[in-house]
Amino acid sequence: RKKVTLNSLRSLYKSGEPITMITAHDFPSGHVGDSAGMEMILVGDSLAMVALGMEDTSEVLVEEMLLHCRSVARAAKSAFITGDLPMGSYEISPEQALETAIRFIKDGRVQSVKLEGGAEMAPTIKKITTAGIPVLGHVGLTPQRQNALGGFRVQGKTALSAVKVLEDALAVQAAGCFAVVLEAVPAEVATLITKKLSIPTIGIGAGNGCSGQVLVQIDMTGNFPPGRFLPKFVKKYGDVWTESLKAIEAYGAETKSRAYPAPEHTYPIPKAELAEFER
Ligand code: KIV
Ligand code: NA
Repeated sequence: RKKVTLNSLRSLYKSGEPITMITAHDFPSGHVGDSAGMEMILVGDSLAMVALGMEDTSEVLVEEMLLHCRSVARAAKSAFITGDLPMGSYEISPEQALETAIRFIKDGRVQSVKLEGGAEMAPTIKKITTAGIPVLGHVGLTPQRQNALGGFRVQGKTALSAVKVLEDALAVQAAGCFAVVLEAVPAEVATLITKKLSIPTIGIGAGNGCSGQVLVQIDMTGNFPPGRFLPKFVKKYGDVWTESLKAIEAYGAETKSRAYPAPEHTYPIPKAELAEFER
């Protein structure tokens, strides 16, 4: 497969073909996402929780994000890769945001960055995009602002708040975003926003009227222990955690019984050498 670029994403959008995006946080998850043909890979700050076990995304550092971005970039040779600017690394000023975005390109080896926020982030988005770094917007539910939003809540459930999501999407488009993530927005609202925009919308919990979809890989492959909370919009397409558990349990049992390693897993030594050695 050829490398996906802004041009190929643009032609997918123009033709009405949905754009596929998945998160990845390391070499194997990047590799499998790329092999599955995902057009876009997001090194999302959700890795704070799903890969690092942190309480929420506010804890993850730029340096940590960069390590994960680099590992994904080594694996994903076709997908267009976006790195998520973590909380605290872009809000202070457009200059701070551009500095961080440049680190993501130079050290993180990604092709674009994502940042959360609407109209208030327009000058920041403009600063980064005019420096030649593509920016993916993110409006609706913005998890980095969960404390201000009163938790992980659906946005745009009233006419007034739906207008706010639309205005935010229009503002980040005008500021130069090449696409925008719509998170946790009623499907009808996301569909209408998609019609009003001239850049792709990438939905997560926003219905099937968006220009594309994104999901957190660990969630959709079922790579987590039973009992974990999953948002309503996640569809579990696999049960990777149970598969891994079964494999490791089988290895443990065969190690205890000495069924593993079997002769085919061992290295031979010529008989004459062995006889000499045993003397
Ligand atoms: O961090 C993340 O994984 C994200 C996606 C869910 C959009 O921001
Ligand atoms: Na994120």
